[in-house]
Amino acid sequence: MKTPIRVAVTGAAGQIGYSLLFRIASGAMFGPDQPVILQLIEAPIEKALKALEGVVMELDDCAFPLLKGVVQTSDASVGFKDANWCLLVGAKPRGPGMERADLLKDNGKIFIEQGRIIDAVAAADARVAVVGNPANTNCMIAASQAKRLPAERFTAMVRLDQNRAQTQLAKKAGVDLTEVKNIYIYGNHSPTMFPAYGHATIGGKPAAQVINDLAWLQGPFCETVGKRGAAIIAARGASSAASAANALVDHVRSLVTIGAVHSVAIKSNGAYGFDANVWAGMPVRTTAPGTYEPITNYFLDDFAKQKIAATNKELVDERSFVADMIK
Ligand code: NAD
Ligand code: LMR
Repeated sequence: MKTPIRVAVTGAAGQIGYSLLFRIASGAMFGPDQPVILQLIEAPIEKALKALEGVVMELDDCAFPLLKGVVQTSDASVGFKDANWCLLVGAKPRGPGMERADLLKDNGKIFIEQGRIIDAVAAADARVAVVGNPANTNCMIAASQAKRLPAERFTAMVRLDQNRAQTQLAKKAGVDLTEVKNIYIYGNHSPTMFPAYGHATIGGKPAAQVINDLAWLQGPFCETVGKRGAAIIAARGASSAASAANALVDHVRSLVTIGAVHSVAIKSNGAYGFDANVWAGMPVRTTAPGTYEPITNYFLDDFAKQKIAATNKELVDERSFVADMIK
């Protein structure tokens, strides 16, 4: 039997947590032969900790063979201790009429503290994936606290946007979802993100050729993907949860699968015109479990460059807004 992976999850009793934990414990994230220990972290709020007790009871009641232990705590230094993966979900979600960046001042603080504690107590091979919004900039804040763990270990999730874009292309083309490949997200997890239809293929042919409707690709397609989170909040009265948890399973699964090419927000090194030291979505290739290289040679036309410039500007503005939080 393999040694269990320690997976710390913040916001474990929240909406996303409730969809996520059971997938991790069932083997969907790390594979059907990889045991896990869940280290569940909640805010020190009575209601949240009580809810967490119930979630842990349900995990027990699933009798998952791969689940080798559960820690439940409101102390981040206990929850992140020796963690191999730190999944940072716990943060306020936005409500109707808000943008994700409106959460920055409240949520940003959480990531200062957690970045510092992860750097102090997590395993030497720790990887961090940020979901709490605004995910890119929160990830940058957490990474800014780290002295021991390199910045590449800190990633933010744009996989939900990739999955959304894949489905929208398949629906428009009237094909099975699996026919759509190589659709990647550039930039911020916000309405400015760019779903780069130019690289995508449908049934092995360029997606733009199959769809043959540039106005739709540049207009409603980008808009639907970019504003999907708000559409879900308007319809459900709460932000996406099951699809977000699913995307996090995909994000980590792809990061531990050698050869996978997928969208991740990572520290920019200037590729594609992103400012250095913003966390920008782009395609990466997994080279070893938990390790990736950015793919920096994809062709971008003028439309794509203009979209990337806009999403980069937003990331730079968010960074300026939290300048006092970054070490
Ligand atoms: P939720 O309110 O249902 O749950 C959040 C949980 O986090 C709560 O239980 C809360 O007590 C806990 N929490 C708050 N501060 C904490 C802290 N310091 N440490 C540990 N736990 C803490 O919210 P949710 O629907 O689960 O969403 C969580 C976050 O994920 C939100 O910021 C939301 O906007 C974001 N989100 C991101 C994506 C994405 O694609 N990146 C998708 C969906 C949601
Ligand atoms: C989403 O994209 O569904 C999440 O980021 C939640 C939100 O606020 O839109």
